[in-house]
Amino acid sequence: MQEKEITSLLSQMSLEEKIGELFQIPAYFIADGNATGPAAELGITDDDIRLAGSCLSITGAKKIREIQRDHMEKHPHHIPMLFMADIINGYHTVFPIPLAQGCTFNPALVEKAASIAAREAAAAGIHVTFSPMADLVRDARWGRVMESTGEDPYLNSQMSAAMVRGYQGVKNKLAEKGKLAACLKHFAGYGAPQGGRDYNTVELSDRTLRDDYMPAYQAAVKAGCALVMTSFNTLNRIPSTGNRHLMRDVLRGEMCFNGVLISDWAAVNELIFHGIAADEKEAALLAIRAGVDIDMASPIYIKHLKQLVEQGMLPEELIEESTLRVLTLKNRLGLFENPYKDANEKDEQELLLCEAHREAARKCAEESFVLLKNEDSILPLHKENDTVAFIGPFTDNQFICGSWSIFADDADCVTVKSGVQENYPCSKVLFSDGCPTTDPGEIIQGFQKSPEKEIIDSDLKLEQAIQEAVQTAAAADKVVLCLGEHRELTGEGASRASLTLPSCQLRLLKEISRINPNICVVLFGGRPLDLREADRHAKAILEVWLPGTEGGNAIARILYGDISPSGRLAMSFPWCVGQIPVHYNHMNTGRPFSGDFRLERFGSKYLDIPNEPFYAFGYGLTYTTFVYSAVSLSQNRLQTGETIFASVRVTNTGKRTGTETVQMYLHDTAASVARPVRELKGFTKVTLNPEESTKVCFPITEDLLRFHDINMEYKSEPGIFEVFIGPDSATNNKAEFELCHSIK
Ligand code: GLC
Repeated sequence: MQEKEITSLLSQMSLEEKIGELFQIPAYFIADGNATGPAAELGITDDDIRLAGSCLSITGAKKIREIQRDHMEKHPHHIPMLFMADIINGYHTVFPIPLAQGCTFNPALVEKAASIAAREAAAAGIHVTFSPMADLVRDARWGRVMESTGEDPYLNSQMSAAMVRGYQGVKNKLAEKGKLAACLKHFAGYGAPQGGRDYNTVELSDRTLRDDYMPAYQAAVKAGCALVMTSFNTLNRIPSTGNRHLMRDVLRGEMCFNGVLISDWAAVNELIFHGIAADEKEAALLAIRAGVDIDMASPIYIKHLKQLVEQGMLPEELIEESTLRVLTLKNRLGLFENPYKDANEKDEQELLLCEAHREAARKCAEESFVLLKNEDSILPLHKENDTVAFIGPFTDNQFICGSWSIFADDADCVTVKSGVQENYPCSKVLFSDGCPTTDPGEIIQGFQKSPEKEIIDSDLKLEQAIQEAVQTAAAADKVVLCLGEHRELTGEGASRASLTLPSCQLRLLKEISRINPNICVVLFGGRPLDLREADRHAKAILEVWLPGTEGGNAIARILYGDISPSGRLAMSFPWCVGQIPVHYNHMNTGRPFSGDFRLERFGSKYLDIPNEPFYAFGYGLTYTTFVYSAVSLSQNRLQTGETIFASVRVTNTGKRTGTETVQMYLHDTAASVARPVRELKGFTKVTLNPEESTKVCFPITEDLLRFHDINMEYKSEPGIFEVFIGPDSATNNKAEFELCHSIK
């Protein structure tokens, strides 16, 4: 439809019909088109359902076509509904969790993963995905770190923009086949809850918010994301969903976002619990004034907006402004011409889990794994010579997708055991579970309880299982111990105050290490964990996160060396939970400390652990070794408007081909405010054969040096800068240059 036709449609709509467009019904609110259970209890009527503008978490081409057809027949203007869902890392073909995708340091790969997810979900009738989640994270206690791409503003910006391109296409033509409208979330600062406890208070200075947390949101908006979702948290003690300044001045004003703003799940209603709305009516008023267009999964708008207008407390123009944005989004998706868009059962059958998608998921998984330790080059395994015992609760476990894989079937997942047997049928292998994923009796929450094999239901059985595993280990040259945290221990609402592995798994690890020292731990999970025990007993540690549908094939191919590990950590691993928050781009403090924490007293340090993380941001090993030359600069002075180049020569000094992620960090040594000790400002992956070398060059321009200065102005300041280039954020391979502001 033409724009004028949309405004004409709007002019023909009643107030109820305009408000209906702002009402979103979750799947369980309706059955055969009528209000059921929770909806009826919330006072939602069939008439409300009839006017609803969008639907949440319903999928399937056949079902969506039926609901859409029925809805349009009943709607006075036959306006189609939007169908929205959480397609976070895949629909039926599940990719690694976003934190793992961040570890690929490969935006093109992440873009491809998003495009495949879009093709599958669009064929299943979905129009909007609630992704990318672009929240910067620094606290592994928070369960949703698995959904982010990590602790760095620059990496997160690259990844959030890549996901938007993947879902919407580079030209953002949403009506094209296989495209989804992307919804950036959660605006803003949701990733910094106090204590790492989900939904908790967020206290960020405006400078930290803007310099560290905003860049990834800005990148997604700049890439053209069609929607933004409000966050549950407060900022400056104001809940985002009622924060008029944040939404109208910052998001829509400064960032020029003109798409649809949707609340998070029932977050409009939560303004009451936050204590800024006395009742539902006030909650509705605050949210619509803040510019929240759609009230997700709550009846607040549908029940109160009409009365607010009729009582003269709310100008109808505010309703019309939101309704117009929703109708415009539907029009951009082409729904007025084709209300079913890509919903097509034949396409579903052909696309979902097709070989090409599985292969892409496997490649993404392979690139997301991070080799954290490899003493005595125990890895890769030798296909013929090594007898390998695969032991642990993740050896034969199909629950290896992230907690947002809610539309996928775990039965489609390839386990480690299947991956090894299918890819290396001639290898000498043994298998044993050893212990359950979680300690007997530990509560596993989650809207999809993983009915995993409960092999243990008593201490006696646990003893027997461990002894059997120890015997299996005794018969092998090497042990691959597949350990980790249950997927329902990360994700939404899954914060933990401890980061250790379950005690039954640590028991298994210790018992096996007594009988066989050649242990490689393959670690599953959705967050950085406390790996001190694993490091004490294992010669190798491979972090595989929650690798998705093709996890077992990817892990097997990496373990046996057909593929070399190349992942780099997108989030620091702390020594222990007491070290949190720990992140590489920290401030220097007035008492920086790099000495012996046991000896020197008056420095910013702990008495019981070092300041450095256990594994640093950007860190990861390969099956070969690389050497870097010193950093060289094309010039030692940078004038505004010019570009200088920092380069190194990287050489593969090992015996195998490998892929190195070369990283460039910049440090502003003196500015009007304290600046991070370094900030990632460039990275590139190079694959080199043994003895091969290549020159890697990074452009440096003045805009890379900008920050919010003492007056909160976003600009660079003249002075001396350090440029580091190396394999991770701990590198000291550096050079210096001076920024001079050209006199205009
Ligand atoms: C949840 C999440 C959000 C998700 C939404 C819809 O509470 O916070 O990320 O997209 O509800 O499921």
